[in-house]
Amino acid sequence: MKQKNVQQGCKMKQFSSAQLEFLKQISLQEKEDDWLRILGYSEIIEKKSNGKIIGLAGVTKRYFLIPSLFIAVSKNERGEGVASEILSNLLKKWKLPLFLTYYKKKSHLEQFYSKFGFRKILPWFGKRILCIKV
Ligand SMILES: CC(C)(COP(=O)(O)OP(=O)(O)OC[C@H]1O[C@@H](n2cnc3c(N)ncnc32)[C@H](O)[C@@H]1OP(=O)(O)O)[C@@H](O)C(=O)NCCC(=O)NCCS
Repeated sequence: MKQKNVQQGCKMKQFSSAQLEFLKQISLQEKEDDWLRILGYSEIIEKKSNGKIIGLAGVTKRYFLIPSLFIAVSKNERGEGVASEILSNLLKKWKLPLFLTYYKKKSHLEQFYSKFGFRKILPWFGKRILCIKV
C-alpha cells in the first residue's frame, strides 16, 4: 500500500486530445488561462454524456510540484451534482495530501471544497486561496 502511494505521487500522464479539448472549452468559458497550463495528471476521473466529456477532476503537479486538484464541469451541465460525483470518485483513488487553489471571487467554492475535507491555509498570490486536504 505504501509503495503504491509513493508511485501515485510521482507519475504524470498526458491528457488525451478529448481531455485537452475539454480544458480548452473551460478556459474559454471561464476566461481563465490556467486550464491550458495543466501539464498532465497523476490521477483522473472523467464524466461523459453522449460520448462527450462534461466533467473532469484530476490531480496534477502545480506550484513547486505539489499534488493539486483541478476540477471543471461544462457550463451547460452545472448545478446537477456532476462535480460532487467526480470529486468524490477521485478522492476514493487519491489517498495522499492534496492541495488546491481557487479564485477568491468564486467564494461559493469554499463551502463546496470544505464538504470534501479541504481547509483554507493562505491567500495565494493575491487573487486566490490555497487549501489542503490531508
Ligand atoms: C465549480 C464547478 C466544478 C462545480 O460544478 P457543478 O457540477 O455545478 O457542482 P455540483 O452541482 O456538484 O455542486 C456542488 C456544490 O457547490 C454548489 N455550487 C456550485 N456552483 C455554485 C455557484 N455558482 N454558486 C453557489 N453554489 C454553487 C452547489 O450548490 C453544490 O452545493 P451542495 O453540495 O450543497 O448542493 C463548476 O462550476 C465549474 O466547472 N466551474 C468552472 C471551473 C472552476 O472554477 N473550477 C474550480 C477551480 S478551483
